[in-house]
Amino acid sequence: MSKDQNILYFISGNVHKYNEILNLFRKENLKYILKQKNTTTVEIQARSIKEVALYKLESIKGQIDGSYFIEDAGFFVDTPLDGFPGVYSSYVMKTIGNKGILRLIDNFDETRAHFTSVIALYFKPLDKNLFFEGTIYGKVSKTLRGSGGFGFDPIFLPNVIPNKTFAELTTEEKNKISHRGQAWRKLIKFLRENTY
Ligand code: IMP
Repeated sequence: MSKDQNILYFISGNVHKYNEILNLFRKENLKYILKQKNTTTVEIQARSIKEVALYKLESIKGQIDGSYFIEDAGFFVDTPLDGFPGVYSSYVMKTIGNKGILRLIDNFDETRAHFTSVIALYFKPLDKNLFFEGTIYGKVSKTLRGSGGFGFDPIFLPNVIPNKTFAELTTEEKNKISHRGQAWRKLIKFLRENTY
């Protein structure tokens, strides 16, 4: 493997995401070196997280010498909001935030929600775009709880640990079950099987 092929760039300005990914990466004995790069990407409004991720990946092609990946996620309140905010998660977080989501579902006892993560990788040795996905199901908490994590973490109760929000878990605990952790493990499997 040449020096360039050895580096894997994570394109993101989100320090929380980077910390989660770094926490996962450190446990692996990979032949790659992980580097974060905060390159400006283009985020389109599309119907699926995967479409957004593909566009973002393509928008920086040619700017990076080597293999690189981006990660895109969405929070979907399936009941009672029919999947909202989904692909609008970023905008909703910046505008009404978690308190706004709680206000929207205030009258409903039953909630169902999920997070989906898509890692889109441009893998230079094969000159190919590849996708790795993860989803976690749960409920929406009645109140904001916990101080860890970021984004919608304080209002998401995963089904596998139903008494704690994501924000009440350590990074390690969250990574074990989260959408991003699942997508990440698929990426790791691919990298292990494709070392040049
Ligand atoms: P993006 O993937 O950075 O576009 O994320 C969309 C929105 O979902 C942002 O507002 C993030 O804060 C939020 N988000 C992404 N991943 C997570 C997560 O793991 N927990 C909570 N919120 C998240």
